[in-house]
Amino acid sequence: MTATQETARIRPRDRDTLVQALRTGVVPRTGQQHIQVGRAAEVKALVADIARIDDGGSTARFVIGEFGSGKTFFLHLVRSIALQQKLVTVHADLSPDRRLHATGGQARSLYTELMRAMATRAKPDGGAMAAVVERFVTSALTEARERDEQPETVIRERLAELTELTGGYDFAEVVASYWRGHDTGDEQLRDDAVRWLRGEYSTRTDARKALGVRTIVDDSNFYDQLKLLARFIRLAGYGGLLVCLDEMVNLYKLANTQARNANYEQLLRIVNDSLQGTGGGIGFVFGGTPDFLQDTRRGLFSYPALQSRLAENTFATGGLVDLTGPVVRLANLTPEDMYVLLGKLRHVFASGDPAAYLVPDDGLESYMRHCAERIGDAYFRTPRNTIKGFLDLLAVLEQNPGSDWKQLVGTVELAPEVDTELAPLPGADATAADDDDDGLASFRL
Ligand SMILES: Nc1ncnc2c1ncn2[C@@H]1O[C@H](COP(=O)(O)OP(=O)(O)O)[C@@H](O)[C@H]1O
Ligand SMILES: [Mg+2]
Repeated sequence: MTATQETARIRPRDRDTLVQALRTGVVPRTGQQHIQVGRAAEVKALVADIARIDDGGSTARFVIGEFGSGKTFFLHLVRSIALQQKLVTVHADLSPDRRLHATGGQARSLYTELMRAMATRAKPDGGAMAAVVERFVTSALTEARERDEQPETVIRERLAELTELTGGYDFAEVVASYWRGHDTGDEQLRDDAVRWLRGEYSTRTDARKALGVRTIVDDSNFYDQLKLLARFIRLAGYGGLLVCLDEMVNLYKLANTQARNANYEQLLRIVNDSLQGTGGGIGFVFGGTPDFLQDTRRGLFSYPALQSRLAENTFATGGLVDLTGPVVRLANLTPEDMYVLLGKLRHVFASGDPAAYLVPDDGLESYMRHCAERIGDAYFRTPRNTIKGFLDLLAVLEQNPGSDWKQLVGTVELAPEVDTELAPLPGADATAADDDDDGLASFRL
């Protein structure tokens, strides 16, 4: 293996968030480009999706890989790229309490979670709804000034486009209320409107009292609301909406066939819209395991209409890929990837200054040998603990000048990771599986 040549400078803020996230076993939300390895074709495919969304099209991708293959990392990476391209993003993990379709509030709950995470380039950490609505209003005001029109007229014109869509009338009314609040300095009215858009009204009565509308975001209009939101976001001047949904395996875990199928039917609507290119400025990226996709008893392939749409090109086997379909397979990282990744981590840790590297290339290799001895293949197949251990090693070397990496490498303790996506057993009542939660990861230096 050859030495890695890193040249990029790293901003202190990026360095600290990356190191901190990875040391606590969390997939970083920003700065992924500094440590990303492989996946060139996959990233290219999603970059093309982002361009399609920006053009007013609609897309859907299923990112499928084993535990530890990097699904969550990939979703965050795509999200960062989308933000750079001036899209608005929302993201959430599915769970027993958060689904695409439900009758007990779980779809609304997924919606509110998505809205909490709503991000723009200026607000990458979430909570961007109010800023997006404000931008809609200010861009309408600018247009009104230019055309010498009443602001109200321009806003009504823009909102007319929404009323063509299902549920669009009330959505437009709520935005108009926001405008009135803006115009008259009624902060309460503005807040109420934002609350409605974030799906935070739980009763129609309350919504009616505050905003004069009869409907709220609820389980029955989850997808319609997302489509409206995408259209609205474009009216506000952004490129479109990217929706990232991780932990899709939670649908596969639903024990009730009817509930599961209702969720798959919702997915079918999304996939159909993307294949027809209708829907307008919205894209979905779903992260899930091979079981979630392929299992013919409970996975997506148990639902014939989805199976036929998601079936992969039968010629794309044995290392050949076809990224024109909705399914993107992520292979596990390889030892070569791991070597490159460790080199990048060393570079990030040294804030981009090769003179400050704490271990030489030999050190990367001997750390990998040490990991292979301790946990076997798992060190690169489920790399979270390998990454964590390496950064902990660097931290000790940094804080103890004069310490010798050769002596320390062999003392890094590592435990294999447990596949949290498979627990609990299918058939049992599903409970939350959060793979940011390291059950077994015990590590000390
Ligand atoms: N392409 C990649 N480049 C660099 N690091 C990666 C890459 N893919 C995954 N990782 C790292 O590997 C670990 C496992 O990835 P994760 O996204 O949590 O896997 P999954 O969601 O498929 O279980 C994380 O620490 C992540 O930061
Ligand atoms: Mg994950």
